[in-house]
Amino acid sequence: MNKIIEITQLNKVYYGPEDREREGLGVLSDINMRVDDNEFVSLLGPSGCGKSTLLKLIAGLDNDYEGSISLRGKNPKNTRIPVCYMLQKDCLIPWRTMISNILLPIEIRKGNIKTAKENLKSLIAEFGLAGFENYRPSQLSGGMRQRAALLRTYLMDGEIMLLDEPFGALDEITRMQMQDWLISVWEKHRKTVLFVTHDIDEAIYLSDRVIAMSNIPGTIVGEICIDFKRPRTRDMLLCTQFNEYKRSLMGLLTND
Ligand SMILES: Nc1ncnc2c1ncn2[C@@H]1O[C@H](COP(=O)(O)OP(=O)(O)OP(=O)(O)O)[C@@H](O)[C@H]1O
Ligand SMILES: [Mg+2]
Repeated sequence: MNKIIEITQLNKVYYGPEDREREGLGVLSDINMRVDDNEFVSLLGPSGCGKSTLLKLIAGLDNDYEGSISLRGKNPKNTRIPVCYMLQKDCLIPWRTMISNILLPIEIRKGNIKTAKENLKSLIAEFGLAGFENYRPSQLSGGMRQRAALLRTYLMDGEIMLLDEPFGALDEITRMQMQDWLISVWEKHRKTVLFVTHDIDEAIYLSDRVIAMSNIPGTIVGEICIDFKRPRTRDMLLCTQFNEYKRSLMGLLTND
């Protein structure tokens, strides 16, 4: 398997607005991890342990850290490497219609909007958004907004998808539907995904591998491979093996 993301000895400290003399807040400590091509990897950790910070660093939005991040062998500090990044909030632009929100990445790279619209039809249907193209975000359900944001992320240039708790704000039932839907879309398209969550069941259900993080300063306390075959089914969440995975992860998460 080819490594697509490789992180070694990464440390991140946030400094307050006043000055750099202060000690600062150590957020990430000695992070070492890799993600392979076409893998679905979840980062699981308690609130505030630095998960969003880590995604931001991988996306190249903050270069102030120690250690190294390499994307396909390139250092994002020196080279701009495009990634598909979905922030913790859906960040749809409220005054734009759903379709013009989705077309934003294409607009930004000055692509042909008319052709893109035509080509998007089947993806819009696949993402469960057909018929709602001209609705504004406030007129869509929470699940639809997340799917629109995911589709917009999917259309960004880049072979890595960084998803920051995309289902965190959804109710349990919508969340389950969205997980099933994401799994079916991912099983078909197979982009490399790094998925942030603090939900253990979600991490096991979706992932090939789950990386567990400690409390702040976040460090990696262990990882487990999920050997369930694909396509995944909800029954897998009820089997003994699932509970074994859950027990191991709970052990990792409570041992810091
Ligand atoms: N720009 C910033 N400047 C200073 N401190 C920050 C900044 N961004 C985040 N932090 C701090 O870093 C720590 C980690 O934040 P981060 O958002 O990475 O956590 P998280 O694991 O994503 O949490 P959650 O699961 O709640 O989203 C927090 O204590 C937060 O206050
Ligand atoms: Mg976060």
